[in-house]
Amino acid sequence: MLYILAVLLVLVFFLPDLIGRLPALICGAVVIGFGFYVYNLWCKDPQEEANQEANSSMNEIIKPSHDMENIMLLDLLRERRSIRKFTDQKIEEETLDILIEAVLRSPSSRSLNPWEFVVVTDKDTIGALARSKTHGSSFLAGAPLAVVVCADPATSDVWVEDTSIASLLLHLCAADLGLGSCWIQIRNRQHDKKIDSDTYVKGILNLKPDMAVEAIVAIGYSAEDKSGHAADTLLYERVSYEKYGNRR
Ligand SMILES: Cc1cc2nc3c(=O)[nH]c(=O)nc-3n(C[C@H](O)[C@H](O)[C@H](O)COP(=O)(O)O)c2cc1C
Repeated sequence: MLYILAVLLVLVFFLPDLIGRLPALICGAVVIGFGFYVYNLWCKDPQEEANQEANSSMNEIIKPSHDMENIMLLDLLRERRSIRKFTDQKIEEETLDILIEAVLRSPSSRSLNPWEFVVVTDKDTIGALARSKTHGSSFLAGAPLAVVVCADPATSDVWVEDTSIASLLLHLCAADLGLGSCWIQIRNRQHDKKIDSDTYVKGILNLKPDMAVEAIVAIGYSAEDKSGHAADTLLYERVSYEKYGNRR
């Protein structure tokens, strides 16, 4: 404060006479500005400085700890259900992109990645796919998105496992994005008495004859209110410890 008063005194009484009023005014503004800057540096509260530093470094590294990530997945699993009724809301392009990225991150045996995915949003095609089976596929007609999960069985002897994992990841990632979804089994299922579901779906999508369809995952915004399975319904009696049959 004393510094500012001293500068003001010099400016008011001496400088205008020496260099003229306007240059004196400009000089004054610059000198006072510099004074404030230096004063601020001196008077900064070290605690406040430390807090600011901590906050900015937290912003850079705020991500859940390993434990929290596990809990977040567990929370999702606790709420997850198969959803078969959907609203009319379309799935945004960005959301679809995330789903595709997620499914392409599926693990696969020997990293052979035998799967192929056909993303279908066309209403008529979805309608036709909804008739893949006599039971358990008709609800697909109300979904804005169907992802057909298929593979060339010649590329991997465990293509069934690999495509199943991919289908499950689609289901879980959909839930993570606030979407509902449901697996529709195609492999080993019948369209009608004569045609199997696999052949029927391949015909609709122009899949190559040597390809096989594992499942269709119906995805959309949920129009159902389902809660996760209650903890006391979980089949703990299916779990043995060390040797089969040893329960806790
Ligand atoms: C391998 C597999 C095949 C399934 N196939 C069908 C299906 O064809 N149609 C259907 O409506 N749901 C199907 N589902 C969904 C199951 O019916 C559902 O997961 C089960 O009833 C448990 O319900 P939740 O997922 O809500 O816990 C399938 C699920 C799995 C894992």
